[in-house]
Amino acid sequence: MPKSREIHLIQRPTGAPKPADFALVERDVADAADGQVLVENLLMSVDPAMRPRLTAGQALEEAMLGGALGRVVQSKHDGFAVGDLVTNRLGFREYFTSDGKGLTKLTPDPDLPLTVHMHALGGTGFTAYGGLLHIGQLKDGEQVFVSTAGGAVGSVAAQIAKIKGCYVVGSTGSDAKAAWLRDVVGLDAVINYKAQPIRQALEEATPKGLDVYFDNVGGDHLEAALRRMNTLGRIPVCGFISGYNSGHSSVSNLSNIIYSRVTLRGFVATDFMHLYGDFQRDMAAWLKDGRVKYQETIVEGIAAAPGALIGLMAGENSGKMLVRLAN
Ligand SMILES: NC(=O)c1ccc[n+]([C@@H]2O[C@H](COP(=O)([O-])OP(=O)(O)OC[C@H]3O[C@@H](n4cnc5c(N)ncnc54)[C@H](OP(=O)(O)O)[C@@H]3O)[C@@H](O)[C@H]2O)c1
Repeated sequence: MPKSREIHLIQRPTGAPKPADFALVERDVADAADGQVLVENLLMSVDPAMRPRLTAGQALEEAMLGGALGRVVQSKHDGFAVGDLVTNRLGFREYFTSDGKGLTKLTPDPDLPLTVHMHALGGTGFTAYGGLLHIGQLKDGEQVFVSTAGGAVGSVAAQIAKIKGCYVVGSTGSDAKAAWLRDVVGLDAVINYKAQPIRQALEEATPKGLDVYFDNVGGDHLEAALRRMNTLGRIPVCGFISGYNSGHSSVSNLSNIIYSRVTLRGFVATDFMHLYGDFQRDMAAWLKDGRVKYQETIVEGIAAAPGALIGLMAGENSGKMLVRLAN
């Protein structure tokens, strides 16, 4: 019977989460019984969506839910063999037994690192792909703004827009991430919103206005973009991270959508599952030919997971934030 360490939420944070909100707990995990597998998690995803769940949705005194990639280490289940890689939503834990429900087998691309399946070639990349092309109805050569452009979703959205021949402005919160977006990714303009007021900087960076704003932030970024939208512009609303700690994020100029006939549409990635095959084909090719680049911030060991989530909310990640548990 293996021991598994898990991260539990032990109290609901007010404002930014802090280490005392979490506990590292050791649990016995049963060996696989008939019809079951025992899975060892290798990589855990750290996502902004975990923060609203700390306020409501995440059970106290239980392992934090979230995306993870694991390996089957015992199998008494016909559908899985020892060594299979499986994605799951069981989150911040080292081992678990399962009857197979909620497990998806992953066949890794042999020409790419395994970790890219946790971001650019996985959920965050798919969110960017469908959010921009399907929800945002991006057309070649348009004027585009992407917020949190140094992060997992934003960096992919910004690069897809570049591949489509668009003029692309990205915002981020550090000089290092801004330099990567400017010098490595080749965005047309980059704003460090912590160094310059977003409203004025976006006005200067968008002389032809905006056709698409891929919104990961809400609040002041959405307000700034609403002032720049061209007629029939689109705003796919992917996230509202500026409000996740406080529970609110206000926008005072929503009425701008009227005369500019702007479409503002929230979405979740499951809205466009029919595009998953196209996404996998396109993204694998773009990653291999270097047209999509990525950064990863990987912390080691389950005990580091709460700090990774706290750091994510504070912008300490460049690209995708992951926790590695085993190789
Ligand atoms: N709709 C969906 O299906 C879906 C799926 C996945 C993710 N999302 C959303 O997409 C967004 C990005 O997610 P991700 O996984 O790619 O995370 P990420 O961008 O890799 O990491 C989050 C980043 O948000 C930025 N941030 C934090 N507080 C901020 C604030 N008050 N104002 C502006 N930026 C702030 C930080 O970067 P800076 O250095 O730039 O501040 C931080 O690094 C989130 O809003 C998330 O909820 C939506």
